[in-house]
Amino acid sequence: MRHLISTLDVTRDQAIALLDVAEDMASVSQREVKRLPALRGKTIVNLFFEDSTRTRISFEAAEKRLSADVINFAAKGSSVSKGESLKDTVQTLAAMDIDGVVIRHGASGAPLLLANRGWIDVPVINAGDGTHEHPTQALLDAFTMRRRLHGAGSRGKGLDGVKVLIVGDILHSRVARSNVWLLRTLGAHVHLVAPPTLLPWSIQEWPVTVSFDLDAALAEFAPDVVMMLRIQQERMRDAFFPNEREYSLLWGLTETRFSRLSESTLIMHPGPMNRGLEISSAAADSPQSTVLEQVANGVSVRMAALYMVLTGEREVSDVH
Ligand code: NCD
Repeated sequence: MRHLISTLDVTRDQAIALLDVAEDMASVSQREVKRLPALRGKTIVNLFFEDSTRTRISFEAAEKRLSADVINFAAKGSSVSKGESLKDTVQTLAAMDIDGVVIRHGASGAPLLLANRGWIDVPVINAGDGTHEHPTQALLDAFTMRRRLHGAGSRGKGLDGVKVLIVGDILHSRVARSNVWLLRTLGAHVHLVAPPTLLPWSIQEWPVTVSFDLDAALAEFAPDVVMMLRIQQERMRDAFFPNEREYSLLWGLTETRFSRLSESTLIMHPGPMNRGLEISSAAADSPQSTVLEQVANGVSVRMAALYMVLTGEREVSDVH
């Protein structure tokens, strides 16, 4: 893997190798000294043009645990607010002799521009671009599912036959897109439930089944995993649903709906959560919820992604 821009580019072999490397990385995070020398001497720039809590901190922790030198760049407070273009910003950074870029940008396609236009000649990792993709989120979600369903250390396995229900604002969700492609590659079945207004036009071409009634989908699809998505108000320029109360009643994982689920059904959410809107606290804080595990696993998975993209290795030689 030269870059990590989209989960569509990741083969099953590569995905499983990455999840296996992430298992090694997770064992490093359990140690007293949580550090490997793998990226010593390499400089990585985190370019964040859009707000982020989890993803930004998680990449920084991952880079530091691999002993890389880290430069953090936030668009707010930089010359970007003076109108400097993405190209000029990136070329300025490139002149500083860096070895890799992690980029989050509000425009779908920005990481691909960096990788393809020759503005910079280093690996690019997409940390979320517009409504397009968020590949490391999908990989950490797959890692979390694999660990919970097959046990920690279940190397070599995919997610064959696992039934994943993704619910909510699919239209604006880069998390949903990256998950759909990766889950298909790993052998899972994906069913989507959303208000019709929050589904993209291209949905017929996606490798998924779709319906609009959450209660019926929970009963008939009988998911192993329910992934709730945030309602992304910041990307909505229209009224996509009548009001929050109605959204929550029809498409939210309310306390009542949650209490009807089997105790083995996993509840996932990429965060940040709108409690009381798409997910109730009863569901989010239950033992079935993997919300905080997803955050913890994010560091191991990003260590694996950085390691594989920057060194080209599929196995970690210096862990054991
Ligand atoms: C997601 C994102 O930014 O795309 N969050 C995250 O990275 N953990 C999902 C979201 O914002 O709803």
